[in-house]
Amino acid sequence: MKYLVTGGAGFIGSFVTAKLIENGHSVTIIDDFSSSTKETVHPKATLVEGSILDPAALKKAIQGIDGVFHLAAEVSVPASMKNPQKTLQVNALGTLRILEAMKSQKVDKIVYSSTSAVYGDRGQTPNTEDLTPRPLSPYAYSKLQGEYFIKTYTHLHGIKSVIFRYFNVFGPGQKPDSPYAAVIPIFLDRIRQQKPLTIFGDGTQTRDFIFVNDVAQANLLAMQSDFSGEVINIGTGHAISLLELTKLLNPTQIIHEPAREGDILHSSANIEKAKTLLSFTPKTTLQEGLKEML
Ligand SMILES: NC(=O)c1ccc[n+]([C@@H]2O[C@H](COP(=O)([O-])OP(=O)(O)OC[C@H]3O[C@@H](n4cnc5c(N)ncnc54)[C@H](O)[C@@H]3O)[C@@H](O)[C@H]2O)c1
Repeated sequence: MKYLVTGGAGFIGSFVTAKLIENGHSVTIIDDFSSSTKETVHPKATLVEGSILDPAALKKAIQGIDGVFHLAAEVSVPASMKNPQKTLQVNALGTLRILEAMKSQKVDKIVYSSTSAVYGDRGQTPNTEDLTPRPLSPYAYSKLQGEYFIKTYTHLHGIKSVIFRYFNVFGPGQKPDSPYAAVIPIFLDRIRQQKPLTIFGDGTQTRDFIFVNDVAQANLLAMQSDFSGEVINIGTGHAISLLELTKLLNPTQIIHEPAREGDILHSSANIEKAKTLLSFTPKTTLQEGLKEML
């Protein structure tokens, strides 16, 4: 089959691309390299360099495609606080443009990478998909808007869809040097440099860390599935506090700084739906995944 991976040069997109190619599929990537470089474009993928906001680039990328894995996004919560319009444009309008391109080219199915951030801070974990979303940042809001556009196009135009809400994805290739990098690559980089780890808040905040290769596998299962319009959590179902995470890493010192605006306190996934609908279970433990990053 022939698939389009939007944001295919990014951290998760490059794993989805590699898994598709390993499984004998051909892949086109559309990426504007706003948070990645050409180095992470799979050598066997076809590249369309451009933005998902550009209908001409999208038209070129989507011709002859059987399905779309939509990962391209402005992914930073702090950036979304500083420039909410840009985040909304890329994540919400960008998703709409993809759906329009799919409709005109008669592309059958989309697997969308949304986020657990749409749940907000419910004070009630694990999160199940039927909770009413309560986005706390423009980023979370924009991803939810993308979900709603997809559901609308599934309803109106019969475009088949699976909407994933990822929890905290980690793995090799995640950059520690971006100002908006995720906690694990930042911690590992500090450990390598024998520098102290900084925790925002008291460190009791919990996260559900899922290994990137498991996320890529879930994407493939979703594209092969025959249901449509479902929202599905992708996590491990196990939460760990940042303090517990640091214990696995043996840091020289831990420094606490004030909690950051928009950060969620507790986050963990109920993954019963992923198990039932996709027969998905994560294979890699946090410890195993960390070893692959060292
Ligand atoms: N990493 C996580 O823990 C996590 C958690 C929840 C959801 N997600 C979602 O997963 C997806 C992938 O995230 P990631 O961590 O791989 O991020 P990433 O920044 O590594 O990848 C995003 C890719 O999209 C590209 N991109 C951005 N704007 C674009 C545009 N307008 N046109 C074309 N390409 C564009 C970037 O250059 C990059 O290659 C995102 O949709 C994100 O919201 C990620």
